[in-house]
Amino acid sequence: MNHLHMTHEEALKAAPAEEPGRQQFFMERCRQLIDEKKMRDETYRGTFHIETFGCQMNARDSEKLTGILEASGFTETDTEEADFVLYNTCTVRDNANQRVYGRLGYLNRIKQKNPNMMIALCGCMMQEETVVAKIKKSYRFVDIIFGTHNIFKLAELISERMDEKKMVVDIWKGTDRIVEELPTDRKYPFKSGVNIMFGCNNFCSYCIVPYVRGRERSRNPQDIVGEIRRLVADGVVEVMLLGQNVNSYGKNLEEPMTFAQLLKEVEAIDGLQRIRFMTSHPKDLSDDLIEAMKNSGKICHHLHLPLQSGSSRVLKAMNRRYTKEQYLELVEKIRAAVPDISLTTDIIVGFPGETEEDFLETMDVVRKVRFDSAFTFIYSKRTGTPAAAMEEQIPEAVVKDRFDRLLSEVQKISAEVCGRDAHTVKDVLVEDLDDHVEGFVTGRLDNNTTVHFKGDASLIGQIVDVYLDESKGFYYMGTLK
Ligand code: 5AD
Ligand code: SF4
Repeated sequence: MNHLHMTHEEALKAAPAEEPGRQQFFMERCRQLIDEKKMRDETYRGTFHIETFGCQMNARDSEKLTGILEASGFTETDTEEADFVLYNTCTVRDNANQRVYGRLGYLNRIKQKNPNMMIALCGCMMQEETVVAKIKKSYRFVDIIFGTHNIFKLAELISERMDEKKMVVDIWKGTDRIVEELPTDRKYPFKSGVNIMFGCNNFCSYCIVPYVRGRERSRNPQDIVGEIRRLVADGVVEVMLLGQNVNSYGKNLEEPMTFAQLLKEVEAIDGLQRIRFMTSHPKDLSDDLIEAMKNSGKICHHLHLPLQSGSSRVLKAMNRRYTKEQYLELVEKIRAAVPDISLTTDIIVGFPGETEEDFLETMDVVRKVRFDSAFTFIYSKRTGTPAAAMEEQIPEAVVKDRFDRLLSEVQKISAEVCGRDAHTVKDVLVEDLDDHVEGFVTGRLDNNTTVHFKGDASLIGQIVDVYLDESKGFYYMGTLK
């Protein structure tokens, strides 16, 4: 179909109603429009750049957005001096929002030099009404705003913007749709994230995710297994199954199934060598899952198990639905079944009403569990969450002091724990040439620790045996066996 003499209005009528056919139609339309623009204007290159903030979900979404942009005729570039710049935003903590506003000023200056430039914003931050209102008012140079539920529609939105010459805003409040079979472009040829579910139903009282990512929706197991098979055929040896709370996978499927059952199906895929997953909620971590990890030859011995706080009182106020004791028992159970498990966690300091005693309970859990690593966060007040309305927000200086004490304890322990595999042979997935030492490569153990050793580019993407000569605290130096 020739799109060049068609308006977006006419294209809307001509486009198939069903996905993914509809988006294929709009990607084709964008390709034609971009080709024509390139012919008309020799300075126009049709380049794009995506800047991703936040978690692994966003990283995976950005791979999909990259796939759509490439299929729409754009070419990737690694600077923001591009014809199409997209910020995939995060709003879990306020500092992520502030960074986006700061960088928008910088983008505006680039746009003033390049009238062809389009600026688009998407991701969790855009699901907040106050944010969109602020951008409409004070950042008029933004071209397209969309949210977390409709990233599959990017080509359609670009097509609209090319015609309409005014800001295109398309935010969905929620969705029960999952659109399959759209293009993606993977960052690594040998490993990939795979979404298994979207959204979260837990409503931890500090967290904005359930409001911006919507209710839990699981993908069909056939779609997940089919995607992983295709990835494996394309050279992938390691997958990371992604969801805000993977342990409640499958509850809302037409034919319900558990996460442990899904893992068994994924495990059976020939050629796949490593399976990771993220994130697990302690309240939902089942015995079946522990059993599946124990018996599996492919599931990595690594569990990210967010603690958030070690005080049962604070955990209750956070609506986490487990106590300090239950968390510690769970850790014991996992360690009994999988003794070499590597445990990592997330901890929030300064939740409203947190006392010194509460904080010491957190320190106590940290000392008892001895996490391989812990991501520590200062509590950030998110408008609209129950915790934002709680009295007794903690003074900044107190929070900072607790944060520093926690961080130094966490770091001391991880330096001790991370060296435990020194002088053993472990399998390592080789990921890249070493940035620092010529003739070396870097890879990862199944517990995610980095290893550097002598090797060349031919090893990238392979899983090889490496003797770990020496621990350097957070990484190893090794020798290829
Ligand atoms: N303030 C600070 N940290 C938060 N997290 C989620 N919401 C907040 C908040 N309001 C942290 C939690 C979660 C991680 C992804 O981000 O620890 O596990
Ligand atoms: Fe947020 Fe809790 Fe859901 Fe995690 S489980 S995304 S912390 S509400």
